[in-house]
Amino acid sequence: MAGFSHNVMGVTIVFMASVLWIWMLRSLDIYGSFYSLTYNSCSCDLDLTSASPASDTSTHLSGSNIASLPLPTVATKSRLASSPFPAKLWQKSGPGGMSKSREHYVKSWQQMNTNLRHEILTDGSADQYVRDVYASFPTLVNLFLSLQVPSMKVDLFRQLVLFAEGGVWSDLDVTCLKPVDYWIPEPYKNRTNVVVGLDSDESQFASWTVMAKPRTSHFAATIRYTVAALAESARRYNTTIPGLEMHAASKVVEVTGARAMTVAILRNLAAEMGVSIGRDNLTDLREPLLLQDVLILPNAAFAAMKSGRPEDRGPYLVEHYYAKSDE
Ligand SMILES: *[C@@H]1O[C@H](CO)[C@@H](O)[C@H](O)[C@H]1NC(C)=O
Ligand SMILES: *[C@@H]1O[C@H](CO)[C@@H](O)[C@H](O)[C@H]1NC(C)=O
Ligand SMILES: *[C@@H]1O[C@H](CO)[C@@H](O)[C@H](O)[C@H]1NC(C)=O
Repeated sequence: MAGFSHNVMGVTIVFMASVLWIWMLRSLDIYGSFYSLTYNSCSCDLDLTSASPASDTSTHLSGSNIASLPLPTVATKSRLASSPFPAKLWQKSGPGGMSKSREHYVKSWQQMNTNLRHEILTDGSADQYVRDVYASFPTLVNLFLSLQVPSMKVDLFRQLVLFAEGGVWSDLDVTCLKPVDYWIPEPYKNRTNVVVGLDSDESQFASWTVMAKPRTSHFAATIRYTVAALAESARRYNTTIPGLEMHAASKVVEVTGARAMTVAILRNLAAEMGVSIGRDNLTDLREPLLLQDVLILPNAAFAAMKSGRPEDRGPYLVEHYYAKSDE
């Protein structure tokens, strides 16, 4: 019983913090309508004075910091610049484990990248990973563990891994076509902290393959965005975050998936760079585009097949097979 009410309290606190976070993001809406947040701010009554402080020691839910979901600290720019991308590949299997075809896909990564440490997590080991690595952030851990829609959970997991440890994330329905060491062209090598590739329609980044250094502000922003969007989605469906079920799944891409990651990273970049970034900046990209420390690859890199195998957009780095799930 104690655990249950603790959970409810945690979720309530996250919900309230998230609503305010959304409200704050909306008031910062400088990216034009394309990347504007589609969630409405909560019109429900919020009695903040009755909220108990989060058990996280890093923050209290009061005053001006109520909007900040407690997260590990972001690395400084000089720290990031002096550290390499971790030589690590993260993948995750579904509840059914791995099928033969996935083993074949996985081999392509191992053969191309003999220097990469490689970990394939399961549902159980992913839960344990989050409990261990985010142990000081129980609000986030409880929220993660409470998610019932598997695709939402793996989306948040991807963000949590890329923020905590970095390296390459790749879904299991993806093969590697070029060694990871070759992905960042020489002129960008010492300035890049995150590598994303455009999806075929160039409106958002692919989420099936992403590379990052640990503790970037971009993945902190992505986690915050996702948690806020989950809270807002729960409000829309008149439920709690753990109550979100498959009926909410049609919105997965926006709430936790590729679109959420794209919007969050571009908003964060725009805020840090003090410029506006919109869809036009990504359209018809033929060469990698470095925005501050985020390298955006043309759609040929991660989505060549769906993009019609373009020949004027640089190398194909991975192939995505659009499997229904990672089982
Ligand atoms: C990054 O590398 C380029 C050469 O590829 C060099 O000209 C530049 O000075 C380097 N910048 C930093 C900050 O190390
Ligand atoms: C929300 O759910 C509660 C409990 O299930 C119900 O009493 C209430 O009428 C619902 N509100 C709306 C707007 O659907
Ligand atoms: C995005 O495109 C607009 C319009 O072309 C331009 O003003 C802006 O500087 C671009 N942003 C970046 C970060 O390059």
